[in-house]
Amino acid sequence: MNFNVTASVKGEEVPFENPAKGFYDALGFEGMKEMMYRFYDCIYESDIANFFPQDEEEFAKVKEKNTLFFIEICGGPKVYKEAGGMELNEFMIRVHDDFSIYEKSRLEWLGCMRETLEATEVDEALKESFWNYVEAFSKLTVNSFTKERKFESMH
Ligand code: HEM
Repeated sequence: MNFNVTASVKGEEVPFENPAKGFYDALGFEGMKEMMYRFYDCIYESDIANFFPQDEEEFAKVKEKNTLFFIEICGGPKVYKEAGGMELNEFMIRVHDDFSIYEKSRLEWLGCMRETLEATEVDEALKESFWNYVEAFSKLTVNSFTKERKFESMH
C-alpha cells in the first residue's frame, strides 16, 4: 500500500472522511486496542514524545483514552464520551489547540501510524480508508507554522 502524505497548507480547507466502519468490524475491540497501543508505544519513543506525559502511568491513561476515540471514529461502540455536545472531529481539533503542533510533528505522528498499520493485518482497502482519514485529519491538528523565508536576488 502507498502511504501517501501531502503537505498541510495554512488556512486550506481539509476535506476528510471517517474511516470505513469495516475497519472496526474487522479488528474488533481487542484488535483496535492492540493496534493503538502499538501506535502509542511508537509515539513514546518518537521525536514528539515530549508533547505527551513522560510519566508511564499518565501515558498509559492517554493510550487508553485515545484508543476509545479511535474505536468510536471507526464506527465501533460509542465509548469515547468527551465531546461535550460538540461533533467528535470538531472537538478533537480543539483538543490540539493547547499544543504547538508543526508540520514536522504531524509527519512524526504519521510515521508512527504508518509503521503501526504496516504491521496490522487487515484488508488493504480498509487500511487505506483508515490512512486517508489520519493523513487528512492530522492536517487540522497542525496549528503552528514556521515563518516563510523570502530570498531576494541581489544585484
Ligand atoms: C489524525 C490525527 C489525530 C487524531 C485523530 C488525534 C487524536 C487524539 C485524541 C483522541 C486525543 C485525546 C483527547 C482527550 O480526550 O483528551 C489526543 C490528544 C493529544 N494529541 Fe492527538 N491526534 C491526532 C494528531 C496529533 C498530532 C499530529 C499530534 C502531534 C504532536 C498530536 C498530539 C496530541 C497530544 C499532545 C495530545 C494530548 C495528550 C495528553 O492528554 O496529554 N495529535 N489526540
